[in-house]
Amino acid sequence: MWKTYILAAHLEDALQALAEHGERARIVAGATDLMLELERKVRPHVEVLIDVTRIPGLNEIMLKDGWVHIGPTVLHSQAEVSPLLRQHGFPLAQACWGVGSPQIRNRGTIAGNLVTASPANDTIVPLMALGARVTLRSVRGERIVPLREFYTGVRRTVMQPDEMLTDIAFPAMQPNQRGVFLKMGLRKAQVISVVSAAAVLTLEDGVVQAAKITLGAVAPTIIHALEAEAFLQGRRLDEATIAEAARLAAEAARPIDDLRASADYRRKMVGVLVRRALQRIAEGREAEDFPEKPPLLWGKARPQPRPLAETVVLTEETPIRFRVNGREVSVQGAFRKSLLRMLREEAGFTGPKEACAEGECGACEVFMDGVAVLSCLVPAPRAYGAEVVTVEGLAQDGKLHAVQQAFVEAGAVQCGFCTPGFVMTTVKLLEEHPHPDRETIQHALSGNLCRCTGYYKIVRAVEKAAQEASS
Ligand SMILES: Cc1cc2nc3c(=O)[nH]c(=O)nc-3n(C[C@H](O)[C@H](O)[C@H](O)COP(=O)(O)OP(=O)(O)OC[C@H]3O[C@@H](n4cnc5c(N)ncnc54)[C@H](O)[C@@H]3O)c2cc1C
Ligand code: FES
Ligand code: FES
Repeated sequence: MWKTYILAAHLEDALQALAEHGERARIVAGATDLMLELERKVRPHVEVLIDVTRIPGLNEIMLKDGWVHIGPTVLHSQAEVSPLLRQHGFPLAQACWGVGSPQIRNRGTIAGNLVTASPANDTIVPLMALGARVTLRSVRGERIVPLREFYTGVRRTVMQPDEMLTDIAFPAMQPNQRGVFLKMGLRKAQVISVVSAAAVLTLEDGVVQAAKITLGAVAPTIIHALEAEAFLQGRRLDEATIAEAARLAAEAARPIDDLRASADYRRKMVGVLVRRALQRIAEGREAEDFPEKPPLLWGKARPQPRPLAETVVLTEETPIRFRVNGREVSVQGAFRKSLLRMLREEAGFTGPKEACAEGECGACEVFMDGVAVLSCLVPAPRAYGAEVVTVEGLAQDGKLHAVQQAFVEAGAVQCGFCTPGFVMTTVKLLEEHPHPDRETIQHALSGNLCRCTGYYKIVRAVEKAAQEASS
């Protein structure tokens, strides 16, 4: 576990700290991967965490000289609703929307997803098809690496210990280009890809001029289906062409058996996904199933870094000062904990619950700087100077919040362990979608699990809260 936690106020400070601490240091963005890696002792040598999420200006998505640029702290949730990405990098917006749950997407970054370098990570697949490159910066200077040369194996990249990924860029998709990303998992939401695929085609009068097809979770790194790409060039997307391209793509896969699927099944599913992707492009159905206004659980807030006047170096001795439910608190002794454990064990807020402690269940949900997050995956020092709201902060003047009241009246509580998380999600959902339809409610609740499986009544409680707010 970490001995020093640096909240960097400037990029230069982060790079300097990386140069100073080398192998012992690690950049931390959303911490959705890193917290679990540290907990599981995958990185036993790491002692210094350098948090870059408070550095202003790193969370922007921009168009410059025909290239889309994505900063290192851009969240999946920002990307899924970015008009720029929907227009010029649609498969990436789709992939971001499919990552985990809304709460995971409110902390997880695209850069973190690339650096973790799992072959099942979703954003690598469309970015590779879009011809992306990454900028790696250190105090020694900077270099630009094409994404296809970035990976050297499972969870391995060419990055040096003193380097930080500071930009992701790809040529903006043009009106004659069409693209789509599809993933297949063992359930509909909160799911790691068993297989994923992206296709980006350049078309003139219905004839393919160039094709990029990339495949995830079927080899040690994301791969191009090179023969399928070559085959498509110069052809129209008719049924026979699509079937042959899908067959060639399946042949390119080199999957393994694991607990999620057999190699055989994966290879077959590559064919199915590529066929579906090409059919969607042929029929102009790329955006099918992609919601115009997905629930983000930002409410009326925007995920903006709360800036720091200067870089803060926190150690075990430093008290962590932050606000909970409008009250200033200062906590000593929680430095190596998660925000959840700091709230429960040191600050006396036991409303957020620990169930999975791995971001899967939503029982620990709180609002941090206005946005719904999973406190089990937030390192406690990250909350320094932040504004946190727990379920205890919802009731006012001894009166339950309208959402809490609706849960009581709808009988949406059995053992009650999951209830704080569901209530927090519903509060944020109704701030941004006052009249949500069933599908929007289901998407919003996809990061909250109820082991008593009382979902009908929970959905009913959400609908009741919405109705009562508008009556
Ligand atoms: C419950 C759950 C569900 C998930 N579902 C999915 C899913 O469906 N699809 C999917 O693809 N992923 C999924 N993930 C994985 C995870 O959310 C993503 O990989 C996330 O994008 C990582 O980003 P982060 O900001 O949290 O990275 P962090 O955890 O902060 O960092 C990850 C790694 O990258 C390094 N790093 C981060 N930023 C930089 C940088 N700028 N420069 C250098 N190094 C950097 C860190 O040191 C660390 O090694 C899931 C995770 C959880 C817990
Ligand atoms: S998601 Fe945090 S305890 Fe389950
Ligand atoms: S009410 Fe028991 S876990 Fe949901």
